Amino acid sequence: MKTLGIETSCDETAIAVYDSEHGIIGESVFSQIKMHAEYGGVVPELASRDHCVKIISVLKEAINQIDLQSIDQVAYTSGPGLLGALLIGESFAQGVSSALNVPLIPINHLEGHLMSPVMEFPEIRVPYICLLVSGGHSMIVDVKDRGDYKILGQSQDDAVGEAFDKVGKLLGLPYPGGPHIEKLALQGCPKAYEFPRPMMYSDNLDLSFSGLKTSVLYTVRDIDNLTDQIKADIAASFQQAVIDVLTKKIKKAVELSGRSEVIIAGGVAANKALRASIKDLENTINIKVYYPSLKYCGDNAAMIAFVGSLRSSDKININGSSVRARWPLSELTK
Ligand code: KG4
Ligand code: ZN
Repeated sequence: MKTLGIETSCDETAIAVYDSEHGIIGESVFSQIKMHAEYGGVVPELASRDHCVKIISVLKEAINQIDLQSIDQVAYTSGPGLLGALLIGESFAQGVSSALNVPLIPINHLEGHLMSPVMEFPEIRVPYICLLVSGGHSMIVDVKDRGDYKILGQSQDDAVGEAFDKVGKLLGLPYPGGPHIEKLALQGCPKAYEFPRPMMYSDNLDLSFSGLKTSVLYTVRDIDNLTDQIKADIAASFQQAVIDVLTKKIKKAVELSGRSEVIIAGGVAANKALRASIKDLENTINIKVYYPSLKYCGDNAAMIAFVGSLRSSDKININGSSVRARWPLSELTK
């Protein structure tokens, strides 16, 4: 069975085809990052317009040699995300599904991130713990079964990626800050600044990053001459604080849940220093950690097509719209 997946929840226009026998057989992602970088963050209306402009060429690239008539169903991200951007993906999905006369399946973007490592590593078995760290979400989830997710802890304020982006801005780095901070941190000393590690020792699995971000803000504000070396030291020290908190919380999540398989997902999962720290943890406690390949850390349609292939029974009528800016995991069904 072939599932066409469509993702337009934020600033990536992405389409992929998942074949139940052969896995991903076609995919294309167009990132709008350059356009939004000029404004220091995603501008929702520009995002919607650009999805309109790019979606046909993204489809052509994803489909390539695949016969469109061989598509059995269309899955698309219907939330959570930017409403206007989601509506473009939904309208397009409705058009394709209607033209091909195949079922249409709305997919939760977060479920895409949570399940995508299963697409890459079929040996993974539920239950497992997932650390989902992106620009919009930071949560530790107990994936009990497909469709049965329990949030064990989440950020009480900024998402991790958001904190990376804001600190990037403070250091004068381009948007999004995450990859630039990671690169700059290689030149700096992670012990140069003693930034706070909010909630690291709290007795739950919740997270908090706004205090850390504010501490960086005050540090930067009090320095007259922000040299390249000082910026690198701040980047390295900030990144280390985030990594220390996340590593500690994963350890705690494993202890509290008794799970032994852990998945790291979302844009921040691309961070190599974070991966290295969790690898060290893997060497000290009895867990197996799976990291998605870099192209599946950020937003993509492969994860949407894959979850669509598991959710054939969720097909909906084309009339009306099912997009939702907010769509908590707790509202999903098996
Ligand atoms: O999952 P994603 O592509 O989009 C959503 O937010 O859904 O995540 C984007 C976020 C941005 O905040 C970006 O700065 C962060 O992931 N990010 C990173 C790295 N690559 C992307 N953060 C830290 N280190 C990285 N290498
Ligand atoms: Zn995402």
